[in-house]
Amino acid sequence: MCGIVGYIGDKDAQGYLMTALHRLEYRGYDSAGIVTIDDGTPTVHRAKGKVAELEALTNENPAKGPLGIGHTRWATHGVPSETNAHPQKAGDIYLVHNGIIENYRDLKAELKDHTFVSETDTEVLAALIDSFYDEETSLADAVIQALQIAVGTYGIAVASARNPDEIVAARLGSPLIVGLSEGETYIASDASALVGYTDQAVYLKDGEVVVCRRDGIEVFDLASRPVSPRVETIEADLQSIQKQGYDHFLLKEIIEQPQTLRSTLNGRVDVADNLIKLGGLNMTDDELRGIEHVTIIGCGTAYYAGQLASYYLEQIVDGLTIDVAIASELRYRSFHLPKNTVALVVSQSGETADTLACLREIKKRGVKTLGIINAVGSTIAREVDGGIYVHAGPEISVASTKAFTSQVSAMIMFGITLAQARGINNEDISNYIRELDQLPGEIERVITNYQNEIPSIAKKYESYDHALFFGRDTLYPVALEGALKLKEISYIQAEGYAAGELKHGPIALIDDSFFEVALLLDNWLFDKTLSSLSEVNARGGHIFAITNSKQNIDAETVLHVDTNLHVLAPLVLNVVQQLFAYHIAVARGNDVDQPRNLAKSVTVE
Ligand code: AGP
Repeated sequence: MCGIVGYIGDKDAQGYLMTALHRLEYRGYDSAGIVTIDDGTPTVHRAKGKVAELEALTNENPAKGPLGIGHTRWATHGVPSETNAHPQKAGDIYLVHNGIIENYRDLKAELKDHTFVSETDTEVLAALIDSFYDEETSLADAVIQALQIAVGTYGIAVASARNPDEIVAARLGSPLIVGLSEGETYIASDASALVGYTDQAVYLKDGEVVVCRRDGIEVFDLASRPVSPRVETIEADLQSIQKQGYDHFLLKEIIEQPQTLRSTLNGRVDVADNLIKLGGLNMTDDELRGIEHVTIIGCGTAYYAGQLASYYLEQIVDGLTIDVAIASELRYRSFHLPKNTVALVVSQSGETADTLACLREIKKRGVKTLGIINAVGSTIAREVDGGIYVHAGPEISVASTKAFTSQVSAMIMFGITLAQARGINNEDISNYIRELDQLPGEIERVITNYQNEIPSIAKKYESYDHALFFGRDTLYPVALEGALKLKEISYIQAEGYAAGELKHGPIALIDDSFFEVALLLDNWLFDKTLSSLSEVNARGGHIFAITNSKQNIDAETVLHVDTNLHVLAPLVLNVVQQLFAYHIAVARGNDVDQPRNLAKSVTVE
């Protein structure tokens, strides 16, 4: 995924472009570039590496001009390099692009008049636009003609020195937002880049093309028919996207989970009346009652959130059958879904390409789809039939933490809604509602009580090369998530396992290059999991046990987490895992918020 920005107004564009690129750097950061146009004269700066490398160039030689576009890249075609950085140029066209042009090879073969210098599909699209951009053709028409031929996904912004009064932008499959202000128009891949500049925005829809001028915009479809844009108000504020004094966004987002979870639950959990109230499902009680099967899809942490939620939904809704699938797998299978299925589509960014593609496959089968989404107005959020916004606020750090907690909680609320539609309102349901209501406070207690103890535990394990996380039942998906968190920010090879599976192979791995994280709940499986620890200890394991039990545990390190929760205790133990992974990554000197090779939202397949 990449970050796209643009500006046309009465100031030098560089100011906004560089600030906005810094804010979008989490979207991809292997190279960056801008072009500004000053009275017909373009100034281009591009650099391999982070936005700071680009900034060194713009500080040395400021790019002048009240019109400009910029880009921070997560490479898909062509290695990170200055040549492959955007903007890409062809003739008088400058282009920044997020997405993939799938027929770029065929197009390239046809574009004989252009000498290609980069390995990118983007340069091909720029050349295609330029091939239509002659004296009789407006910039917008040239872009539209090119997009009618190009196949793939794009969020683009196009500028030309021949047209110093317009920027043309367009989207198909990659988000693009236009910010509106008096005498100025902004372009950004997501709303966080606009905060502090304007709160009036148009979220472009797929297939739309926008002409941006100082005094406003015009929107068209790909048949050049005018479209009337809907102006929305951006909710995020500057404060919410800054680090607020934390060393890293990741720590901020772990610590703020009590608050962000409260906003997930706000107005939806009514303990007094033992009710869950969800708007936005767009389903009648009859339709809810009629649901017999739930399919949950997602990628990465969103998939693990679905895994954990599936255990809860089984417990809450008698007779409901459930399956959970990795979106990038299910989308290619010849899958069938039973009648009366509803699909929960879990995604923090709402832009993950595999999840979006899987959603579209599910919709082809006529199945109702509900989003469990954080990013308001995101592509997935606009394509599902209904859903639950988790309202966890912008999640900037590449590693997803607060979104996981909010996603699981939202799916639990959905499960209770199904139960209530069926007239189920037993002690279990009351239990879940009560624990949901207590969950933010319990997470707050865990953070307060243990955040100073965890760094010293992390120090014991920071130098290991391998880690094995294990747990049973609801702690199995939590073990998977804990392993993902550790591996993606510490680069320690880590995997999560069902505790009962260790004896079927993984204990062959145990040696001094490994440490193990054992997750235990004080429930009916406690003793069973203890025997898994014995198997590991017998082979010289180095176990860090995380548990809400007060019982003695034979492990190298034990963290007894004091919590009043029972069924939702896994979500509290997961916060310990998040802090553990964070402190190990910091101890290893890694770039915690922007781990190598990763991007916040994977909008390519
Ligand atoms: C999680 O920490 C990872 N950054 C990654 O697995 C992420 O969860 C996955 O790419 C899905 O993203 P989404 O929730 O935005 O769809």
